[in-house]
Amino acid sequence: MEKLLQQLENYKKEITAANPVSADDIEAFRIKYLGTKGLVKSVMGFMKDVAIDKKKEAGQQLNDFKLFVEAKYESLKNLISETKHTNTDIDISLPGNPVLVGSRHPLSLVLKQIISIFQQLGFAVAEGPEIEDDWHNFGAMNLPENHPARDMQDTFYINQNPAWLLRTHTSSVQARIMEKQKPPIRVICPGRVYRNETISARAHCFFHQVEGLYIDENVSFADLKQTLYFFVQEMFGKDVKVRFRPSYFPFTEPSAEMDISCLICEGSGCNVCKHTGWVEILGSGMVHPTVLENFGIDSNKYTGFAFGMGVERICQLKYRVNDLRLYSQNDIRFLKQFTGVV
Ligand code: DAH
Repeated sequence: MEKLLQQLENYKKEITAANPVSADDIEAFRIKYLGTKGLVKSVMGFMKDVAIDKKKEAGQQLNDFKLFVEAKYESLKNLISETKHTNTDIDISLPGNPVLVGSRHPLSLVLKQIISIFQQLGFAVAEGPEIEDDWHNFGAMNLPENHPARDMQDTFYINQNPAWLLRTHTSSVQARIMEKQKPPIRVICPGRVYRNETISARAHCFFHQVEGLYIDENVSFADLKQTLYFFVQEMFGKDVKVRFRPSYFPFTEPSAEMDISCLICEGSGCNVCKHTGWVEILGSGMVHPTVLENFGIDSNKYTGFAFGMGVERICQLKYRVNDLRLYSQNDIRFLKQFTGVV
């Protein structure tokens, strides 16, 4: 017993003298004295050598010793948290670190604007998968296998299952809507699409589209023109001129591409309009009867129009972005120019 008391006294001296300062040293102190293999645990083992009549006293002593070590540990911990708070090196009068304000990506901004314009006309928004099957992307849209127009939209196929591909347009969402819904149908389909193209200022392997579909009784080409004209005026202002050029898409007949007067040079000629004064912004047309029939929609009773536009192109004209790659490079100098734009 005497020996034990002597031993505890020695330990206490050692512990009192210990002066760890850093958080690491304090943790080392805890492990050494209070850890599962630490000193406090091991001195408890002395109990078994103490005579029966001394056990109570020894227990008391050991417990006091434990409390002593714990108190020391607590005071060391407090010491470092206090020094942290009272660090007088901090000059609270200095300006703080500026909080960076984020902004929407320009494509998200433009997409939001496009959606809200069509919502005013009663269009709902529909989304679909980016990994598609051949039928929804091509077949159903009147682009059977080996159709030459497939070349206009070369895409990426998926090794694991060559029947899957990355959609080349959101017409695939139109297909999924016609599959599920009966006319009247009035939707726009925004989303990312993929094409197997070499990346340059004018082309990328992915971009964003908004396609639209309106099917009902008596829908005519005049409705198509008026809808798209309204869109252009809302998006670009009342002074912008519009023209339709006959075109070809397998899923529409007749088909037309729509140009607007070049906003960059206002008609005097620039790179964007290739010195013509006009810029193409979308493809459109009356939904091909075969497409309607593919989904069991009676083409004698119903007609419809469809259109598809590239969001990057609209954004280019709206915000004068001259290189497609800027959209995906994450360059903060480009992106922060859109701070505050709603
Ligand atoms: N899907 C066409 C493309 O990606 C764009 C398009 C043209 C969509 C005419 C349509 C349409 O719905 O009617 O090039």
